[in-house]
Amino acid sequence: MRKPVYMDNSATTRCSDASMASMTPLFAESYGNPSALYDGGRAAFKALEDARASVAASLGALKSEIFFTSGGTESDNWAIASAAEAAEAALLSGKGAGGRHMVCSAVEHSAVLRPLQRLERRGWEVTVLETDRTGAVSAESLEEAIRPDTKLVSVMAANNVVGTLQDVKSLAGVCRRRRVLFHTDAVQAAGHVKIDVRDWDADMVSVSAHKFHGPKGVGALFSKVPRRPDPLVLGGGQERGGRSGTENVPGAVGMAAALAEATANMERDAARLKSMRDRLIEGALKIPGVLLTGDPTRRLPGHASFVIEGIRHSAYLIGMLNERGVCASSGSACTAASKEADHVLQALGYGWEPFASLRLTLSVYNTEEEASYVLEILPDCISELRRRDSLGSTGARVLGDGEAAAKERLRTAGKGGWKV
Ligand SMILES: Cc1ncc(COP(=O)(O)O)c(C=O)c1O
Repeated sequence: MRKPVYMDNSATTRCSDASMASMTPLFAESYGNPSALYDGGRAAFKALEDARASVAASLGALKSEIFFTSGGTESDNWAIASAAEAAEAALLSGKGAGGRHMVCSAVEHSAVLRPLQRLERRGWEVTVLETDRTGAVSAESLEEAIRPDTKLVSVMAANNVVGTLQDVKSLAGVCRRRRVLFHTDAVQAAGHVKIDVRDWDADMVSVSAHKFHGPKGVGALFSKVPRRPDPLVLGGGQERGGRSGTENVPGAVGMAAALAEATANMERDAARLKSMRDRLIEGALKIPGVLLTGDPTRRLPGHASFVIEGIRHSAYLIGMLNERGVCASSGSACTAASKEADHVLQALGYGWEPFASLRLTLSVYNTEEEASYVLEILPDCISELRRRDSLGSTGARVLGDGEAAAKERLRTAGKGGWKV
């Protein structure tokens, strides 16, 4: 039987050999608690601090600006909660300008949207920025959305569903001029495109190890000095008071090794992935009724995403590909089981006609032969499902004249009517 073709690297990645090797001694040899004062503890503490320095170097940050977390979700939650906490504390003490308003884009991951919705329930106002058809936010729309009482802007660096890269630097620049904190969820970007937090001029950046061949359950929040994020998790005061709980030393070390490796090989790997991605895109677009989502060129190097007319549910296509040994997804791993179109695709204006979405995301472990295999079986899978749904490739239109419906959906966004 052929080995499964794994093309769901935006959901998670295989741990690299270097990352695994870096972690092994920390489970059975240097397993001490980093807070302990004997040699075994000090060795673990040194491993943790070396990992912090390495992650900082990979992101262009200072060591003191890196806080380890349990992953991208926690980093995003923490960035938002810490900005809210600081604003509310200033309000209570009568210091600061006051106000409770935040801004995000309509295509953020639920790890950003849900904490913002919680703040809305606590009386905060949230403006959700529309994007263009590719998922990009314009600096002008951000400029307009910022108000005197805006406390935080959160716009992701790379979209998980459609792969579009934002112009983070220009968005952060608007926030700097307007003196508003800027956070970016760089979970999909880290390890795949160059990140220099100083060049971006971001205040907070979230990353997650399992998206760049590190282990699951570990990530980091960059928080620019001198700002120290208010803790989300309280207890023994680890991570310089920022995040309590005995540190995940193997995870932090494995993340540092994976990020250093991805950063060192980035140029070479991105060129290879882009070429394979473009071959997949070119091949898939030859199938009638298949359309590319996201930006054709300003996208993650290994990310190809499509909508396919005439198939009722993405899950049918994913299931059929699975039967033929291909691991793919329809978009966000978090909504994989849902029959509804992903909120990102809805925000981009898709979603009112029967269609499936397909995301093929590559890594350095994919081969050209695997890409050829996927291109070989995809037309058959699509025809078979269309036949079953008896909608036909031209029977249903994805785009049509649905602009008005998309606008209506976006009009209600941010007024308590938005959903993840
Ligand atoms: C853009 C984005 N943000 C946040 C997350 C959550 O990261 P984690 O799985 O590490 O919690 C993901 C994971 O899919 C993601 O794609």
